[in-house]
Amino acid sequence: MPEPVIIGSERSEVGLPAGMDVLRRGGSALDAVEAAMRCCEDNLADHYVGTGGLPNARGEVELDASVMLGSSRRFGAVGAVHGFPNPISIARAVLERLPQHCLLVGEGAELFAEENGFARAELLTDEARELWREQLDAVARKELADSVEGENTAAVAGDHRYRAAALDLVRKFAPHEGPWGTINIIALDASGELCVGVSTSGYPYKYPGRVGDSAVPGAGNWCDLRAGGAACTGRGELSMRGGTARTIVDHLAAGQDPAEACRLGLADASTLPDDYRAELRALALTPDGRHGGAAGQQGSVYALMTTDSTEPEFRPRAVL
Ligand code: GLY
Repeated sequence: MPEPVIIGSERSEVGLPAGMDVLRRGGSALDAVEAAMRCCEDNLADHYVGTGGLPNARGEVELDASVMLGSSRRFGAVGAVHGFPNPISIARAVLERLPQHCLLVGEGAELFAEENGFARAELLTDEARELWREQLDAVARKELADSVEGENTAAVAGDHRYRAAALDLVRKFAPHEGPWGTINIIALDASGELCVGVSTSGYPYKYPGRVGDSAVPGAGNWCDLRAGGAACTGRGELSMRGGTARTIVDHLAAGQDPAEACRLGLADASTLPDDYRAELRALALTPDGRHGGAAGQQGSVYALMTTDSTEPEFRPRAVL
């Protein structure tokens, strides 16, 4: 039987000890991923997941999450969910209690969450709201300066213009610096089960209703006990178009080690044309406990705990 292990992307170290506690007690990989991810979703200092996540262009926090099991390839996910702080648990409920479906979005996902007893909460924190306003204000000031040069700015207000400008803002938001904050967590339990979990507030200031790779099987999350599990963080539009998590697991199946499988998956996605290109990162874990990651930047790491760890340790990711 394998030694339990749990790995995660940047800032997952907040949750990995809770996941490893589950694994040490002989709990399942699914329980471990959920326990670890809930800590990350509840971390108010993390503006890319759960409560405190950065909002969409309308100022609403909109969350995506998924879980996938390696033995059965069962998959549960939710997308564009408002008002529920732990989407990873709703994704798990889809997997376990709604086996006729894999993915619920928006209003339907919220109805399902309510029916299953999940509590609503306000997710937009004061700090996240302020960040959103600052960003909108900065772009709005530039937009106005660009568009009304030589005109009397007081005379050009109006609903029509306002809405056109708002749509323009959404189109013109550039991806921000650094890795996006989606959290990936992958666990291997003592029974040999593998589970991949992904949770995110998605592309900051995204178009309302946009669902990213975190909720899409094969894109941000893939798990197959025959080869391994993989997950992505970063520009989800690239991993959706590249089928990147699935590509990485295919490379594991072909005999690549986890870091190289991740690097090859990212290399494939990097060939896609994309005007809004931003970094993509990946992680992988095999059924025999080997792990690795890759990223577009030097110095990127992932976090790891084994049953011997007293705290999360960090390992370098391969560079694309
Ligand atoms: N990878 C997260 C997202 O694109 O939403």
